[in-house]
Amino acid sequence: MWDFFETVRHRHSIRKYRENSTIEAEKLHAVLEMACAAPSAGDLQAYRIFAVISETLRRRLSEAADNQQFIARAPATLVFCADPERSAQRYGERGRNLYAIQDATIAATYAQLAVVAAGMGSTWVGDFNDNEVAKLLGLDGALIPIAILSIGYPAEIPEPTPRRRMEDVVVYKED
Ligand SMILES: Cc1cc2nc3c(=O)[nH]c(=O)nc-3n(C[C@H](O)[C@H](O)[C@H](O)COP(=O)(O)O)c2cc1C
Repeated sequence: MWDFFETVRHRHSIRKYRENSTIEAEKLHAVLEMACAAPSAGDLQAYRIFAVISETLRRRLSEAADNQQFIARAPATLVFCADPERSAQRYGERGRNLYAIQDATIAATYAQLAVVAAGMGSTWVGDFNDNEVAKLLGLDGALIPIAILSIGYPAEIPEPTPRRRMEDVVVYKED
């Protein structure tokens, strides 16, 4: 098991997965448990997570995501959907437009790091057709797909991607 800092440093977008490898049910469960452990506004967890193992559905999701083939090749896909009305019931417009999206995004972030800690890799996919994904998952309009994570055992460890300089991103503000 890696500590938190190692886990974050070892997270790279993985787009090549070991062939014919499945994900153990306990590992997938552990990842989902960590997603649900994420903080959420008012502890409402205004999201739903769809876990997709089915090869057919993964292929269709990849088609709905600009034909990004690695989604079909990864043994599992998680689709994080915001539940705006759940948050709106308590927080009104702010819950509907902001908190529900943040809740779903934070849950996906926790899942992505848990995937690494569990010895696997993932890619966060944002380039997809909302309506097509909603249709494939049978969403009734109440849930909005926010992020897709393709998950599997890495077949490659990519070069680390560069980041902006800390000084360009962080502002130490004084009064
Ligand atoms: C909101 C968001 C949307 C993204 N959408 C895609 C995508 O559709 N396809 C893809 O291959 N990678 C996607 N990525 C992954 C980024 O390209 C990747 O995180 C970034 O280049 C940094 O590389 P790293 O994850 O290896 O550190 C997305 C990441 C985020 C956070």
